[in-house]
Amino acid sequence: MCGLYHPGDAVHRVLVIGGGGREHGIVRSLMRSRRNPEVLCAPGNAGIEKDRVECLELAVEDIDGIVGAATEREVDLVVVGPEAPLVAGLVDALREAGVRAFGPSAAAARVEGSKRYAKELMRELGIPTAAYTVLRSRREALDQIPCASYPAVLKADSLAAGKGVIVCEDEPAARAAVEEFFTERRFGHTEVVLEEFLDGEEISLLALCDGERAVPMAPAQDYKRIFDGDEGPNTGGMGSYSPVPGISADHAHALARAVHQPVVDEMRKRGCPYHGVLYAGLMMTADGPKVLEYNCRFGDPETQAVLPRLRSDLLDLLESSTRPGGLADRQMEWASEWAVTVVLASRGYPESSSSGDEIRGLRSIDSLEVEVLHAATAEQDGHIVTAGGRVLNVTGIGGTPGEARDRAYAAADRIQFDGKQMRRDIAARAVDHVEV
Ligand code: AMP
Ligand code: GLY
Repeated sequence: MCGLYHPGDAVHRVLVIGGGGREHGIVRSLMRSRRNPEVLCAPGNAGIEKDRVECLELAVEDIDGIVGAATEREVDLVVVGPEAPLVAGLVDALREAGVRAFGPSAAAARVEGSKRYAKELMRELGIPTAAYTVLRSRREALDQIPCASYPAVLKADSLAAGKGVIVCEDEPAARAAVEEFFTERRFGHTEVVLEEFLDGEEISLLALCDGERAVPMAPAQDYKRIFDGDEGPNTGGMGSYSPVPGISADHAHALARAVHQPVVDEMRKRGCPYHGVLYAGLMMTADGPKVLEYNCRFGDPETQAVLPRLRSDLLDLLESSTRPGGLADRQMEWASEWAVTVVLASRGYPESSSSGDEIRGLRSIDSLEVEVLHAATAEQDGHIVTAGGRVLNVTGIGGTPGEARDRAYAAADRIQFDGKQMRRDIAARAVDHVEV
């Protein structure tokens, strides 16, 4: 079916920046576009390459290299996956070079780049969030620790790949965390936010923003801890599912009006209109939803469960988001099915990771109804091997959460590599909620 496009709207060549499961999911979704774009990726991974997508050897931090490649290759749209290049100004540099880019400017990306900035923004706008205080030094932290109530949460102000949050059960744990932040400098030279602990169900609600409005996507739930039962340290995310029981489309729109739209309005007033994804991590507390964090990009692994359910054309949506008010007459249609994504991680993750372990069994699942997205994989002597912490994502789709989950695990169990780690309880909450 043909859409109605103005001549200037044509997007033929898209460059996706990043090399994780999220980017593989974005690539796949763009390849399903009825506009049939040529998709490139930088740096990509072994799975993206296997999809016959040209992968450019460029690091996501290499702003000059990316701008150069986008110009030279006459890329029509750059889609930026990870937060670090957004916070570092990649979208600004691309726009200056005349290249259309999906994602916020560095000024707008501060909602993720600085926890303190986000907390101050929420306070000014009256957006519900945990009570907090900012600790600028070890001395200040040690003064505040005895006054906190426990559990309490300590967060690095700066980017930390989802690992800079420590939930402290008691005062001694908080003292130990202070040393990690201020003495060991585990997350570099950073201020720390000390926050009230919030209890409840967590949801991830991502919205596409066009500088003027925030349009919510389907809600998802993410599993942040490494072990079953939400035990162990935080990771980048060990699994996800979508939709979320109890969060209807109307509810998602109401949440977006309460927590996304005020940010978009304010950023516009501040002269840095918000374009791209605004991700709100929400805790559904007994006192109502509260924002845990904003991210300036698609979630990983939420994207891997959300995009397979999108029935609208992702390319249309991303391209429209780059134009002021461009989403005004765009609708997002979602499949009624459930999607469950299980992350396969390598030995040592999240503290470390292992590379070079051969991944076996990938071919044996070709016939199963799952989507396998690569993250930290590489090709070595004709074999696919691990190349970092989160290695693969397996997404099952089904008419019920249980069916989707069973499909994901049936496939995930067939994939083997030394040191493979995966949680066994992804989507258990949805299965219990919907199927009891
Ligand atoms: P953040 O990067 O701020 O989203 O934090 C990562 C994860 O830590 C969240 O997804 C929550 O699981 C947990 N977390 C962060 N802040 C809090 C809080 N105030 N209360 C309880 N858990 C939290
Ligand atoms: N899954 C959490 C994140 O993308 O930040």
